[in-house]
Amino acid sequence: MSMIKRIAINTGGGDAPGLNAVIRAVVHAATKRGWECFGIRDGYNGLFLPELYPNGDGVFPLTRDRVRGITHLGGTILGTTNRGNPLRYPTKREDGSMYERDRSDEIMEGFRKWEIDALIAIGGDGSLTMANAFAQKGLKVVGVPKTIDNDLEGTVATFGFDTAVAFATECIDRLHSTAESHHRVMVVEVMGRHAGWIALNTGVAGTADVILIPEIPYDIEKVAEKIRSREASGRTFSIIVVAEGAIPKGGTVSVIEKEIGKAERLGGIGEQVAAQIQQITKKETRLVVLGHLLRGGTPTTFDRLLSLRFGAAAVRALEQGKSGVVVVLDPPTVKYIPLEEVADRVRLVPLDSDTVLTARDLSISFGD
Ligand code: F6P
Repeated sequence: MSMIKRIAINTGGGDAPGLNAVIRAVVHAATKRGWECFGIRDGYNGLFLPELYPNGDGVFPLTRDRVRGITHLGGTILGTTNRGNPLRYPTKREDGSMYERDRSDEIMEGFRKWEIDALIAIGGDGSLTMANAFAQKGLKVVGVPKTIDNDLEGTVATFGFDTAVAFATECIDRLHSTAESHHRVMVVEVMGRHAGWIALNTGVAGTADVILIPEIPYDIEKVAEKIRSREASGRTFSIIVVAEGAIPKGGTVSVIEKEIGKAERLGGIGEQVAAQIQQITKKETRLVVLGHLLRGGTPTTFDRLLSLRFGAAAVRALEQGKSGVVVVLDPPTVKYIPLEEVADRVRLVPLDSDTVLTARDLSISFGD
């Protein structure tokens, strides 16, 4: 039997389509059990950085009315952040230099002040690592896995991924006409951090000619070879899908920004590949970076349903007295696994995965 009366919900890390659907499911399922729900704004900021919320609404009540009509909306009504991890909060010394400080005790104090009995934390590996730290400090916590990158351990899928892949595939369909009409090479860079799930699934579904993913370091000469062999067989255009975390053989991942307290920003690899391909093949090559377009929009039916199932399952977990767990998809059902099995881990594309093998059978090149 749970003794829960008040729960908090937060969303952390990059936004992903489906966050609002999770929030709505949690609020409905919790309210039905007679629990009060509170939203924390912008990750944990609403709880420990009151100066950011002059109206005093860093934490605010979430009622059924407040979550009406949001299932299909992208983004998160709670706000989110992937900056200022409270376990390693960037802080300025008097001399102007920066260091990282653990502010988790202030957050635990915030939970006590608001008389919160349990937290439902919706986030990716970073957010779930933070949630795990609070669980270890004694808070009842259930995590819900979110990320367009699909790189979380323990779950067959995270919500947001299907929507991102559906949109990116549509973009590739559209790019085919220009590529073919102008006899060009089109390079499409997609997000995904250090995992190639988005690039792989998009590339196969969109019938790309080359897919470059972090798990398979590429040789640019091999990529050029593929384009030349298409040319020789009368296919005068090519589509290359590049994951932002793709790595050239013997090279390193391309990083735009790396600062204390901030997640490193990946990017720039599409530009490199496009320039090299144009130089080697002498074919006109264009780059499209899909970037944050992949994080917006209406969640697909799959993502909506998964989000609603995850949200309701998180509430059932608390009711059953579970804590320190994360809800995961294990088709045909959902189950709960310890937060430690997800925290601080990244699930990469297995090289023998069926989708990689399918791509190879379809003569899609990985540049290896
Ligand atoms: O984790 C989601 C994600 O969109 C990654 O694919 C990408 O590398 C990162 O977030 C971008 O973060 P930001 O919005 O801070 O640029």
